[in-house]
Amino acid sequence: MTVAPVRKHYGKALAQSFQAAKLENVFVEMPNGERYKTLSTIEELGRRLVKAGADRGATLVTLGGGVVGDVGGFLASIYMRGIDFIQIPTTFLAQIDSSVGGKTGVNLTLGKNLLGTFKQPSLVLIDPDLANLFPDVEAVNRALRVIAGAALSATASKRRRTR
Ligand SMILES: NC(=O)c1ccc[n+]([C@@H]2O[C@H](COP(=O)([O-])OP(=O)(O)OC[C@H]3O[C@@H](n4cnc5c(N)ncnc54)[C@H](O)[C@@H]3O)[C@@H](O)[C@H]2O)c1
Repeated sequence: MTVAPVRKHYGKALAQSFQAAKLENVFVEMPNGERYKTLSTIEELGRRLVKAGADRGATLVTLGGGVVGDVGGFLASIYMRGIDFIQIPTTFLAQIDSSVGGKTGVNLTLGKNLLGTFKQPSLVLIDPDLANLFPDVEAVNRALRVIAGAALSATASKRRRTR
């Protein structure tokens, strides 16, 4: 499961890897972007998996950023009451944060990640080179994560000092 911009760059290589390993595979795309992190996307993807013949023995592989990982993990946790799930995170944020810990979810109009599950992937494949498609976007992403991490750790140590 992926989004069109990521599939365009990495879909062929992944499909070739599946073929080389003699693993039957079908690509399922969700629309790109946070605003599609919804239950209706989950429902549509579920329908496509059924039509593609995915049964309880299928493994859902997510190839993309945090949105694809969160939506795919949620779908894997409920599709046919749960199927295996592998994450291939392709953004820096997804590699250092969202692919770790098994949190999945979708948004409601009332807030982010209000519906979700815990679903540990059976494997997380991280290749730092994958996150370099759009260096400008990724540079901002990285800088923001570093600032957020520094701010959180400063707050935590201030709390420890004032206890
Ligand atoms: N589950 C968790 O523990 C957890 C933790 C942190 C964040 N999140 C979630 O992660 C989401 C944000 O993740 P994100 O920032 O990866 O967003 P995203 O998945 O929307 O990706 C951002 C953009 O980058 C594009 N992209 C994908 N791969 C790329 C690459 N290799 N190079 C450049 N661009 C690429 C995407 O197509 C998209 O347009 C949010 O929904 C957030 O709630 C989840």
